[in-house]
Amino acid sequence: MTDLPRHVAIIMDGNGRWATSRGLGRVRGHEAGIRTVEQVVEHCARRGIGVLTLYAFSSENWQRPPAEVGALMHLLRVFLRRETARLRRNDIRLRAIGRRERLEPVVREELEEACRRTADCSGMVLNLAISYGSRDELTTAVRRLAREVRAGTLDPDAIDEECLTAALDTRGLPDPDLLIRTGGEYRVSNFLLWQAAYAELAFTATLWPDFTTAELDGILADYGRRERRFGKTSEQVAS
Ligand code: IPE
Ligand code: IPE
Ligand code: MG
Repeated sequence: MTDLPRHVAIIMDGNGRWATSRGLGRVRGHEAGIRTVEQVVEHCARRGIGVLTLYAFSSENWQRPPAEVGALMHLLRVFLRRETARLRRNDIRLRAIGRRERLEPVVREELEEACRRTADCSGMVLNLAISYGSRDELTTAVRRLAREVRAGTLDPDAIDEECLTAALDTRGLPDPDLLIRTGGEYRVSNFLLWQAAYAELAFTATLWPDFTTAELDGILADYGRRERRFGKTSEQVAS
């Protein structure tokens, strides 16, 4: 039995290229990507993963053409509306990280409703990163702590790693053990920069709509064979 990561985080990349290589519009790639999301979510829950974080829309993605942003927001709503019942059936609790206030009210309400409706589920946590950027999350957290210091409710010397961790959107979640990026790029694109300090990284050239649960199982098996040293020596870790 290999070690299973408690928290898997995925940068779902390659939808646009998947579509353009077929002569289709980019939005068709996002639509196809949703099918992969559904399969991966169910598979992770079945395998016993504790937390699955999916990078669905970054702070920087707001700069895309308005029509693409609009289509992505529409697809998010469709996903939430269609999937909430299935999430409940699979005992999956939805949560979200990122700047909700930048979302259109209808999208935001749909997201909050889906989180509420799955709040009593106790299986896997599906954590959607929407309008999320790690630098934005960190600066927001620092601003909040600074306000507490100014108000006299926080001693600057009490600000430690735990305190900052608790001020982030991911508060209460374990750090990701495994960070996967599909789509062939070797970068983290402002995703979980603090939380992934010791994550194992896995990159695949497979475009997100083509990513399968079989490939995911291969990555999980590879993860199980890795030795995580956290700065120690191999001998220390083995003992
Ligand atoms: C990832 O696919 C999905 C989002 C960023 C929303 P892309 O849309 O980035 O696809 P490529 O990288 O252009 O192929
Ligand atoms: C990262 O993909 C964001 C998401 C998958 C939501 P991008 O396609 O936006 O990343 P860059 O721009 O290539 O770094
Ligand atoms: Mg991309």
